[in-house]
Amino acid sequence: MKKIFYITTPIYYPSSSLHIGHAYTTVAADAFARFKRLTGHDVWFLTGSDEHGQKIERSAREKGKSPQEYVDHIVEGFKLLWEKLLISNDDFIRTTEERHKKAVQTVFQKLYDQGDIYKASYKGWYCTPCEAMWTEARLEEGMCPDCARPVEAVEEESYFFRMSNYAGRLLDYIEANPDFIQPVSRRNEMVSFINSGLEDLCVSRTTFKWGIPVPFDPDHVIYVWVDALTNYISALGYASGDETLYKKFWPADIHLVGKDIVRFHSIIWPILLMAAGIELPRQVMGHGWLLLESGKMSKSLGNVIDPLELIDKYGVDAVRYYLLREVPLGVDVYYSEQALIKRINMDLANDLGNLVSRTLGMVQKYLGGTAGTPGQPEGVDLELINLAVDLPPAVRELMDKRDLSGALAAIWKLVGRANKYVDETQPWSLNKDPAQKERLATILYNMMECLRFIGVLVTPFMPLTPSKIWPQLNIKDKPELHTWDSLTWGRLPAGLTVRREQALFPRIEV
Ligand code: ME8
Ligand code: MG
Repeated sequence: MKKIFYITTPIYYPSSSLHIGHAYTTVAADAFARFKRLTGHDVWFLTGSDEHGQKIERSAREKGKSPQEYVDHIVEGFKLLWEKLLISNDDFIRTTEERHKKAVQTVFQKLYDQGDIYKASYKGWYCTPCEAMWTEARLEEGMCPDCARPVEAVEEESYFFRMSNYAGRLLDYIEANPDFIQPVSRRNEMVSFINSGLEDLCVSRTTFKWGIPVPFDPDHVIYVWVDALTNYISALGYASGDETLYKKFWPADIHLVGKDIVRFHSIIWPILLMAAGIELPRQVMGHGWLLLESGKMSKSLGNVIDPLELIDKYGVDAVRYYLLREVPLGVDVYYSEQALIKRINMDLANDLGNLVSRTLGMVQKYLGGTAGTPGQPEGVDLELINLAVDLPPAVRELMDKRDLSGALAAIWKLVGRANKYVDETQPWSLNKDPAQKERLATILYNMMECLRFIGVLVTPFMPLTPSKIWPQLNIKDKPELHTWDSLTWGRLPAGLTVRREQALFPRIEV
């Protein structure tokens, strides 16, 4: 039986087009999904769009469109971006879909029937950009404590969810499952938030219409975060006629989210699930922020970084590599195009690209394009081989620790070692001595086998690059040599006739 792995991204608001921050989350989730598939798991990878709520209703009105018309257009853009970024999601959930509405209403009705939802009057504050309800006491200098933007006074009749009843159970769960909220800094924040007292949550609104109606009181629409969070199970067919996927993939292994929404995922969501009698996800991973020197990315500041432009300019694998290598999963990092160009020129063009082209160039020049049979390895060979052979388990361990950047750094150690190996063994000198023919063949075989290892290992991060390496090594039609399980040394056949092609990553001139 294959191991199961279910990973999700946030479902983004189609209130404007997506930027490099959203691309970061989705590319990171994609790398995990692809890695798990490569290592033999049965994977479900979900992304989607969060289409209801006051924010969307207002954005649509500003554009003079109906909300549905407005989101339909923007969501097309989401899908195009994910295609261009080679995102391998298995499904795309839209909260305006019938399958989703039904699941949300089922959960809401269940909680109402069992007395966890009651009607009262709400008086408090609302942050529309965050779609978050705040009590007076939680505000910071009268502003939203999460985003520091102004809040609006709200007073209306609402339904409330008895969150406060579950605070103790949630704390116990967090304590018993240290991996549930990651990284640790986020977990500590959440624990102190809960300890400062959980209020019951206002879970319906009456002052706008764009949402899923409360099934037993259709003047109310369900609070957009209750609606949105339920996507993680509605997309699996929860409460539909067919729960096959739900039974197979729930609970999720990772909800990957930005640190801005960890609170919704690690407090509201688990309590909703507990109340509904549904198992909790295994992990909420809150990653850091991509920052700009010029301040928060925003349309009004005109400083939004459009991933599509970067892909057109530098190529999808280069953009993915930069994001995954440069931004370790818990921390905040400043985005800069210079840093991206530096990564391309150094790591990709100089290190990896050059390794591929010099290896194939030497096979062509010294061996007439056809690799020989390797002889007995010497000390320097064994050093290289051991590094390569130890790499797959090391990368797996780093991925299990959610260390994408570390995994890439480990792979690049082999790239660096292989380049150094060439300098140490000096094939150009060996080529001058006919007695060294076998030694030369051994060295070039080892280089080629390293390239195969590297090609397989980078697949989850840079899905296009392997498909550019395989034809050059002439193993394009040997998929059995592209698998994780093929990573034992020496599987590459001897005597391959190579085909050198264009540089993998052209240098960017600045
Ligand atoms: O919050 N750096 O959607 P959203 C890194 N619809 N990541 C960033 C980022 C940045 N500068 N900016 C955005 C919502 N993100 C809800 C989610 S889920 C049930 C509902 C990423 O469109 C990051 O993942 O505001 C963040 O959590 C998410 O986009 C917020 O997207
Ligand atoms: Mg947001």
